[in-house]
Amino acid sequence: MKGLLALTGAAISAAALAVAAVPAGAQPAGGVGSGPSIAKEPFGALADGTKVDRYTLTSGKGVRVRILTYGGIVQTLEAPDARGRTANVVLGFATLKDYVDKNGGPYFGAIIGRYANRIAKGRFTLDGKTYQLAINNDPNSLHGGLKGFNTKVWKAQPVSGGGSVGLRLDYTSPDGEENYPGTLKTTVTYTLTKGNELRVAYHATTDKATVVNLTNHSYFNLAGEGTGGIYDHLLQLNASRFTPVDSTLIPTGQLAPVKGTPFDFTRPHAIGERIRVGDQQLLYGQGYDHNFVLDQRRPGEPTQAARVTDPRSGRVLNITTTEPGIQFYSGNFLDGTLVGTSGRVYRQGDGFALETQHFPDSPNQPNFPSTVLRPGQAFDSATTYSFSAR
Ligand code: BGC
Repeated sequence: MKGLLALTGAAISAAALAVAAVPAGAQPAGGVGSGPSIAKEPFGALADGTKVDRYTLTSGKGVRVRILTYGGIVQTLEAPDARGRTANVVLGFATLKDYVDKNGGPYFGAIIGRYANRIAKGRFTLDGKTYQLAINNDPNSLHGGLKGFNTKVWKAQPVSGGGSVGLRLDYTSPDGEENYPGTLKTTVTYTLTKGNELRVAYHATTDKATVVNLTNHSYFNLAGEGTGGIYDHLLQLNASRFTPVDSTLIPTGQLAPVKGTPFDFTRPHAIGERIRVGDQQLLYGQGYDHNFVLDQRRPGEPTQAARVTDPRSGRVLNITTTEPGIQFYSGNFLDGTLVGTSGRVYRQGDGFALETQHFPDSPNQPNFPSTVLRPGQAFDSATTYSFSAR
């Protein structure tokens, strides 16, 4: 039983940092001034002895990201406000043990695969064969099943060049894992630029026809993790349509216009402004938990997706993606039962996720962009998160 295990290691203090710096001369915390750098440190081990590492990527312009080889998790992401004060703007846990024991519900910061979001009743048919996946979000399958990519220890390799620094993560999912067909070779590369952009590039190939939908499941709070709610953050989405859902959060198949609904974020609105409107879709999600159809110019071309501003700190997050959709989730199921990275409790609405993706349940929705991947083809997608302040 690999994965769901007790741990032998605890969180490593910042003082223990600085193993294998690439390029030489990794800079101290915050690190404004010098160029991008990356450093590695141990982050404990799973009960079967598998070691987990933590990589710290620094932009040299105030952004610092910590990534775990467990789940490819973005553990912390520090970004400056307009006065240069940094805060960790993503939700997470302090220890590997917490990620193993408690991240099965929220998926903080993790790479999600093989299929991000829901597949109705965990079932789909491909080339005449029906596949039954684990039902882990009754009555559906969510985020890759019982032991998705968020629980795997990825092989890591630092990469650098062109004024940026990166971490390449590889995982080969065996044929039949979580009942998905095909051996899926997956590479996720995180790149941090000196322009304070975090780029996530996904690449996958298969040896049998299969379905793939990959994303990163970071929750943001631009005022700082653990500081309270995000309902005052202003959100703009480049989406004139969304995919309404049924009571189990499976799309009805309709691409509905957002105009005149609480789902219209084509101009900036505070996240909380309309979240208490008596709208059936908001009731189903207990808030926003919906896929938005991005107004792409051309499929597969990087497109402006979302812009979020925190009026208090002035921090701005801008997201572009090659994916056709984005799940906006307003942290509805955070219920005060988890203690986060800095020791504070997460309550409903204390973070939001913007998951770039193909639409939920695409394998059962002939009118949605296809998520089928065949031998000889490659799945490639990229999402960029840019951090600035005003
Ligand atoms: C889903 C939510 C779920 C959350 C954490 C989101 O992608 O849409 O319904 O609660 O992930 O699992």
